[in-house]
Amino acid sequence: MSRAKRKLDHIRHALSHEHDVYNHFDDVNIVHQSLTGLNFDQLHLRAHVGELTLSSPIFVNAMTGGGGEQTLTINRELARAAAATGIGMAVGSQMSAIKDPSERSSYEIVRKENRDGVLFANVGSEASLEHAKTAIDMIEANALQIHLNTLQELIMPEGDRDFAGRLEKIEAIVNKADVPVIVKEVGYGMSREAIQKLIELGVRYIDVGGRGGTNFSKVENMRRTKPFASFDNWGIPTPMSLLEAKQLEEEYELTILGSGGIRHGVDGAKTIVLGAKSFGMAGVLLKVLVEEGYESLVEQIEHIKKELKMVMMLTNSKSVEDLGSSTFTLHGETKEWAEQRINL
Ligand code: FNR
Repeated sequence: MSRAKRKLDHIRHALSHEHDVYNHFDDVNIVHQSLTGLNFDQLHLRAHVGELTLSSPIFVNAMTGGGGEQTLTINRELARAAAATGIGMAVGSQMSAIKDPSERSSYEIVRKENRDGVLFANVGSEASLEHAKTAIDMIEANALQIHLNTLQELIMPEGDRDFAGRLEKIEAIVNKADVPVIVKEVGYGMSREAIQKLIELGVRYIDVGGRGGTNFSKVENMRRTKPFASFDNWGIPTPMSLLEAKQLEEEYELTILGSGGIRHGVDGAKTIVLGAKSFGMAGVLLKVLVEEGYESLVEQIEHIKKELKMVMMLTNSKSVEDLGSSTFTLHGETKEWAEQRINL
């Protein structure tokens, strides 16, 4: 199967697979504060994400790129929407375009459409330092994402099986790249142990990429004649993974980003309350773009920004940083997880 066809299959299946009924963001309650002295119209969403400053903590998470007209169109529209709404954007894995320069235009278009925005390049953990530098240069990226997707690869018939040497590669990139390096999961979440290991390699930016939204086990299973459905519920839900990361934040000056299953601005606010400095949304935004078009996508992002500001009003938070120190309660499975794994 061609790479372009695989990418279109991913988009189709990501938009159509069934989502879990239990949503772990519903286990997190931000404590409502009745008294506010703030003016909604004066609130700003500026976010300090380690060395980066974003005009809002929201970013479009990595999705697509590569050969084919459709991926180019999707990337152009995502980039235009990110520019119009002042949010960040990650491109999909650039590994194929690193090897085949004819595929670069669908990535380069993202910088062309968004001259001044914050953009993240994206490679897999098989990337060498040279690959990483090429990916960064291709879109004049402000940061680089390295994605971890072991289970996706294992379910994919044509996926990687040999991960030997991956840690050394990540270490080389983190220590030599000129921009911040974010290690991210793609929807299986990161444990405290994995994050601790990444910290030892020099990583200081983690996107927990937890379970709850786009589910790559389900996506890949839809492409298999004999599916591994037993892995459909594998992984750590995003709120739990954020709790894992938060335990290491202070000691190691870790910058945490949250993604995976964020449905709206209130979920986004919950990631911030749980320790994230910024949050990424992929499937939900792609669905609006593909099914309703560019104008609806811009409207949706503006709506999410408003929801975030509403939560700031309701927690008496003057800034995104203030929002991060709001109090919350945990319930259900997330509370059970915290009781077994976290020293709150
Ligand atoms: C992705 N994702 C992804 N991640 C990555 O690091 N590199 C990639 O190339 C891709 N490709 C990709 C394609 C499509 C169609 C989707 C929907 C997603 C994963 C994405 O960045 C994110 O981690 C997950 O989708 C979970 O977030 P959501 O979708 O639940 O918000």
